[in-house]
Amino acid sequence: MTLTTPSSSAPARIATKRTVLMCRPNYFTVVYRINPWMDPQLPTDTALAVSQWEVLYRTYLDLGFDVHLIDPIQGLPDMVYAANGGFVIDNIAYGASFTYPERQPEGPAYMDWFREAGFDVRLPENVNEGEGDFLLVGNRILAGTGFRSASNSHEEIASIYNREVVTLNLVNPSFYHLDTAIAVLDDTNIAYLESAFDEESLVKLRALFPDAILATEEDAAVLGLNSYSDGYNVVIASRAKDFERQLRERGYNPIGVDLSELLLGGGGVKCCTLELRR
Ligand code: ARG
Repeated sequence: MTLTTPSSSAPARIATKRTVLMCRPNYFTVVYRINPWMDPQLPTDTALAVSQWEVLYRTYLDLGFDVHLIDPIQGLPDMVYAANGGFVIDNIAYGASFTYPERQPEGPAYMDWFREAGFDVRLPENVNEGEGDFLLVGNRILAGTGFRSASNSHEEIASIYNREVVTLNLVNPSFYHLDTAIAVLDDTNIAYLESAFDEESLVKLRALFPDAILATEEDAAVLGLNSYSDGYNVVIASRAKDFERQLRERGYNPIGVDLSELLLGGGGVKCCTLELRR
């Protein structure tokens, strides 16, 4: 743990070492379209995707994270978006059950990894895309629905972990996973894009997080919110300039990385990162 004192009046932020799972994008490409960011007509550069991903990987190692790797599988180009592979807390891995057939084989592949790593794996009964739609904030789970994870998976996850689950409805197809519209900064703070949610969800978010950072449309449009924080260091899209400024103002340490190639698949920093919590 590192304690840091920001220059402004913002509170001191505490970095906690993270353990994460990632998947090198050796087979990344865009050959189908399951979100508005994907266009199979546009060329992709797998080597560039790998080198950009390597920068993210090194950034995590430099931050002292424990980074585990799952072997990429040929024919599963979206496997790099490890966040969707499951949801892991209390040593229990709730497996993913993907919405689209193109990604369905990823569910068992990730579950095999969890099992071999010693996690207690729970087979999913309902469609859910793991940490793409489930975000732990303190002791509470924020759960997205509308495009991917089915709302009955929210009940399932609540009964598995015995924690409060807050259902949030996503309304903009460009922000189809919860982690494209909300960034978890630490146990009490988040950042989010207001226009990605319906009114009922905004009421919940405003009540739970009155001091949240509100992201700009510009920053959200480069998947700026799709970021990963250790409580002090926040790895974000380097193009998300206003988010970077707001993070700094509040005493966080934003670290920009460029994942432009993986943006062609509709994913960013957080999508490439699955947190493992024992
Ligand atoms: N092409 C992938 C899909 O549409 C991108 C997943 C991004 N992952 C995320 N956690 N938001 O499923």
